[in-house]
Amino acid sequence: MGFKKGFLWGGATAANQFEGAYDIDGKGLTIADISPGGKQRMQLLFSEEAEFPLEIDHEKYIYPNHKGIDFYHRYKEDIAMFAEMGFKTFRMSISWARIFPNGDDKTPNEAGLAHYDQVIDELLKHGIEPTITISHYETPLHLVKEYGGWKNRELIGFFETYASAILERYGKKVTYWMTFNEINTGLMGSFFSTAMRQATEEENFQALHNQFVASSLATKIAKEINPDIKMGCMSIYATMYAMDSNPVTVEKKVEANRMFNYFCNDIQVRGEYPSYAKKYFERKGIELDIHDDDLEVIKKHTVDYLSFSYYMSSVIASDDAEKVTGNFLMGAKNPFLESSEWGWEIDPIGLRLALSDLYERYGVPLYISENGLGATDTPTDKFVINDDYRIDYLRRHIEEMKKAVDIDGVDLIAYTPWGCIDLVSASTGEMSKRYGFIYVDLDDDGAGTLDRYKKKSFDWYKEVIATNGEDLGD
Ligand code: BG6
Repeated sequence: MGFKKGFLWGGATAANQFEGAYDIDGKGLTIADISPGGKQRMQLLFSEEAEFPLEIDHEKYIYPNHKGIDFYHRYKEDIAMFAEMGFKTFRMSISWARIFPNGDDKTPNEAGLAHYDQVIDELLKHGIEPTITISHYETPLHLVKEYGGWKNRELIGFFETYASAILERYGKKVTYWMTFNEINTGLMGSFFSTAMRQATEEENFQALHNQFVASSLATKIAKEINPDIKMGCMSIYATMYAMDSNPVTVEKKVEANRMFNYFCNDIQVRGEYPSYAKKYFERKGIELDIHDDDLEVIKKHTVDYLSFSYYMSSVIASDDAEKVTGNFLMGAKNPFLESSEWGWEIDPIGLRLALSDLYERYGVPLYISENGLGATDTPTDKFVINDDYRIDYLRRHIEEMKKAVDIDGVDLIAYTPWGCIDLVSASTGEMSKRYGFIYVDLDDDGAGTLDRYKKKSFDWYKEVIATNGEDLGD
């Protein structure tokens, strides 16, 4: 009973949200570097009319990602703290533009490659297994300006070159990899994932198709370099409920659920476009540019495991129901759930349902690559942070994970809570939306010492890991 031996407890991050050093050692600009911080960020980046400069404009905007929390220079100190908590794995991404500054360069930037050598070796020195996301919202900006983002097929080749370079360099020492972070956000025209603005629905699906091919090619390359590599896909999962038992509402929920939660996983795990998607394209007159061997590549090089982020569930209701927003989602308000300060509904049971649903559908190992509570922490003048609310959130989610393992028989291999060290929020660019076990002294305006402090949750999580999830400290 309980979590398996060798369960990968750890934490998750993304290069653009915590490395800083955005223009150091030959790094080129990425889409994250020109994405302004602030509460209006999502509207600015994702609205259908989104018009914002593809340049840095310091007069008008702030860019918290530029400095991040300076992990680039402080990685040794931070990794030592992860090791103290007992991390078995650390999920990080590689910034494509550190390796290929423009994305279409012919040769990689050695300074970028050398940097990740140092970070990976430091993790391994502490017995922490890196999990690498190849692309986490960090497409090089040049690929947007010159090629129009992921709707352009040429990006497949550029990604292949980038993936080859990092797999060749690190593939013998890193086992766990993921291709695209939250790939299904591309369905919603997320600038972060497909690097496109004002895209049509057809362009969104084309961009995704190109990413499916790119992802499969990366899997193929990985296995050629090291057959022991485990390659995973990664998407957001939101457990979906129908607001009422009216069959019309349930039908609406089933349709929303399969496009949001299944479409990308169906292709990346099962290796083919599902019939409901083909029918959807037919109905909508969507014609994708699919080359002859694309489907063969997708079929042949499927992933070894499925990873997903889970923050909230979603309620599907009639159009006039009261709405709540969340992580790329908009659903009806669930009267049974509380919300975070940012309005994301908290639903630990939904995580168990997610795990059993995904395992029953796909039967491959599952990796929870993100979960956590974004909250305002208020340190005392001595930087004591009693984040009981975070402990409570994580404890309740881990309890449900355990049920998924013990009752539903799910093969769960890893849990990496998001932002294990405070970092810049993706949706708002704020520092004040904190997820970490480690507090970073930095505010939304960029002021602070950048010193690190352990929160109460630090020791709590350390005990959770030490007991392989048995002591949740209640
Ligand atoms: C996920 C992303 O959507 O949620 C992360 O993969 C992101 O990059 C995380 O940071 C939490 O979202 P936010 O907006 O609170 O930072």
